[in-house]
Amino acid sequence: MSAPLPIVRTVAELRAAIAAKRQEGKTIGLVPTMGALHEGHLSLVRAAKQHCRFAVATLFVNPKQFAPHEDFDRYPRDEAGDATLLASAGCDLLYAPERAVMYPDGFATSVLVSSVSTMLEGQMRPHFFGGVATVVTKLLLQAMPDAAFFGEKDYQQLLVIKQLARDLDIPVEIVGCPTMREHDGLAMSSRNAYLSADERRVAARLNFVMHDAIKAVHAGAPVDAVEAEANRHLTAAGFTSVDYVAIRNADTLKPIASLTEPARILAAAWLGKTRLIDNMAV
Ligand code: PAJ
Repeated sequence: MSAPLPIVRTVAELRAAIAAKRQEGKTIGLVPTMGALHEGHLSLVRAAKQHCRFAVATLFVNPKQFAPHEDFDRYPRDEAGDATLLASAGCDLLYAPERAVMYPDGFATSVLVSSVSTMLEGQMRPHFFGGVATVVTKLLLQAMPDAAFFGEKDYQQLLVIKQLARDLDIPVEIVGCPTMREHDGLAMSSRNAYLSADERRVAARLNFVMHDAIKAVHAGAPVDAVEAEANRHLTAAGFTSVDYVAIRNADTLKPIASLTEPARILAAAWLGKTRLIDNMAV
């Protein structure tokens, strides 16, 4: 059993705890999360502990990144369970602010990243990256870590966060970490908990369809034909609907005609009321 994890809930407490560790000469790694933690989140904590001496996780279900019709109210919440998992992964401190700490009355600022946040997820969920960019900017400025750790699972989010740190001169290294998967290849996600047993079986097809698409495009098939075929395969496999399957430039997410540049395949599809996303290097 690991010792219980210290929890702070205000910016002042967070800054005091971090300042004390800096006094001891420790470097600080930050791992932002919305809780309902799984092995994917814990892999970020382990990476933070490898890179930095003191690992701080944050837990805040950010209302600004959910549209009114989305799952903010039913998003899984289990702070005590999360704290136990974080401690077992070597996390040193949990920052779990209330909504009024992050967004006090009169809060009026948002961070909007253009270009990379306008396509794919940005098109399907227009409010989403504004909410993510605003909360991540706040978390970075509240904690001022040496490095902050994000999953490639949310690949476009990772690019948006790298862009905002660069553009706003926030002195932090943004580190992308590989996607953790279940035994059948399904990317771990807090939202997998919503899936019925039948939906869970279909969900695993997503990464197989992406692997097949990667093979097809390497074999010389045109990118747009491969995307259309993957879309058909997902529907045939039992997905309720497909938001996109796209092979894009890995840095800009702009469409590509051929594999002459580094590429990434990204997909988003629905199983009933649950939306799954995944991506892989091509
Ligand atoms: P959340 O979905 O809780 O994810 C927190 C971090 O865990 C993100 O960086 C995400 O990419 C990473 N992650 C999720 N599943 C993963 C997996 N299977 N393998 C590796 N990493 C994984 O993403 C968010 O929260 C929020 O948008 C946040 C950045 C905290 C801002 O509110």
